[in-house]
Amino acid sequence: MKLYMAPMEQITGYVFRNAMQDVFGGADKFFSPFITAAVKRAMRTRELKDVNPANNPNICLVPQIMTKDAESFELLLCALTDMGYREFNLNAGCPSGTVVAKGKGAGLLEDPSELDRLLHGLFEVMRKIEDERSVKLSLSVKTRIGMEEAWEWDDILAVYDRYPLSELIIHPRYSKQYYNGSVDISAFEKAYRLKKDGLIYNGDIFTIKDYSDLNERFKGLSGIMAGRGILMDPGFFRRIRTGRKTDKAELKIFYNRLFEAYSEDMGPGNAIMRLKELWHYTAMSFDPDTSAKALKAIKKSRSPEEYSSAVNRLFDVSKLIL
Ligand SMILES: Cc1cc2nc3c(=O)[nH]c(=O)nc-3n(C[C@H](O)[C@H](O)[C@H](O)COP(=O)(O)O)c2cc1C
Repeated sequence: MKLYMAPMEQITGYVFRNAMQDVFGGADKFFSPFITAAVKRAMRTRELKDVNPANNPNICLVPQIMTKDAESFELLLCALTDMGYREFNLNAGCPSGTVVAKGKGAGLLEDPSELDRLLHGLFEVMRKIEDERSVKLSLSVKTRIGMEEAWEWDDILAVYDRYPLSELIIHPRYSKQYYNGSVDISAFEKAYRLKKDGLIYNGDIFTIKDYSDLNERFKGLSGIMAGRGILMDPGFFRRIRTGRKTDKAELKIFYNRLFEAYSEDMGPGNAIMRLKELWHYTAMSFDPDTSAKALKAIKKSRSPEEYSSAVNRLFDVSKLIL
C-alpha cells in the first residue's frame, strides 16, 4: 500500500516536505499545494521555488495543477516538464468559494460533460508535449465526489473511467461539505468495484485503526493519501510502516527546523503565524491536561522569544498521546 502526503496550501511546501522526510522518513509521493495555471505566465516566483528540484532533493514530488482550460495547462506543463517532472496531478477537489465560482477545483465537478471536455483537452496537450520532447507523461486526478448530492458521482466516475489516468485519488466528500460531516464511503466503494489499480483513498485517516480498517475493507487498494493525520503526527507514515511511534524529542527537532527555515524564508513573524496553523493540528496529539497552558501560550505568542519559550514549555511538561 502506497502512502501519499496530501497537498495542503500554505502548509506542505518544500520546507515542510524536507523536514518531514529528514526527521520521520518521507512519503511514497508528496503532492505540491496547487499551482494555478495561467495563460500569461507559467508560475509565480513562490510556486517556482516550491517545485524547484533543488529544493526537493530525494523527494518524490508530484506538482498539482489547478486549471479549467487546456491552454493555460500547456504553458505550465511545458515549464514543469522542462524542470524534469513527468507526473502531474489535476485538482478537482478544492471547495473554496472563490475557486469553485471560477469553475476550478471542485467546480470542475458541476458539469461532467465539461469535465470530459477538459480531460480530453489535457490529454491532447500531454500527447503533443510527449511527441515534441520524446518524453512519457502521466496525469492523475484528485477529486471529490460531487458538489452536494450522491447522484452526481456516477456520471463523474464514468468520465474518469474514459481516460488513462495514472491514479485516481478520491476524497469522498461533496464540495459543499468542505472538510465537515462524514465521508461517503459507499461512493468510494463504487470506484473500488470499478477499478482497484491506481485507486487511492483520501479522507479522515487519523489513526492506525482508521488505516487498518481501510486496508481490511478495500483489499488490493493502490494506496492512501493523508493530510491532517500527518499534521497531527508527522511520523504517522513511519508508525504505519514500522510501528515506531513519534517521540517528543524528534517532534521538537521537527518543529525547530520548521521555525528556522520558515523564519529564513519569510521572517519570524510570518513563520510564527504559519506554525500556529500547524500547531492547531499537532495539538491534538498532546494530552490536554498537561498541554493546554503551553498550547495557549503558543497561540498567543508574537515574538520569536515568546514562541520558542512556549514551545519549549510544551515539550518539557506535556505528554504525547499517540
Ligand atoms: C489547510 C488545507 C489546505 C489544503 N490544500 C489543498 C491543495 O492545495 N490541494 C488539494 O488537492 N487539496 C488540498 N487540501 C485537501 C487535502 O489535500 C485533503 O484532501 C483533505 O484534507 C482530506 O484529507 P485528510 O482527511 O487526510 O486531511 C487542503 C486541506 C487543508 C485542510
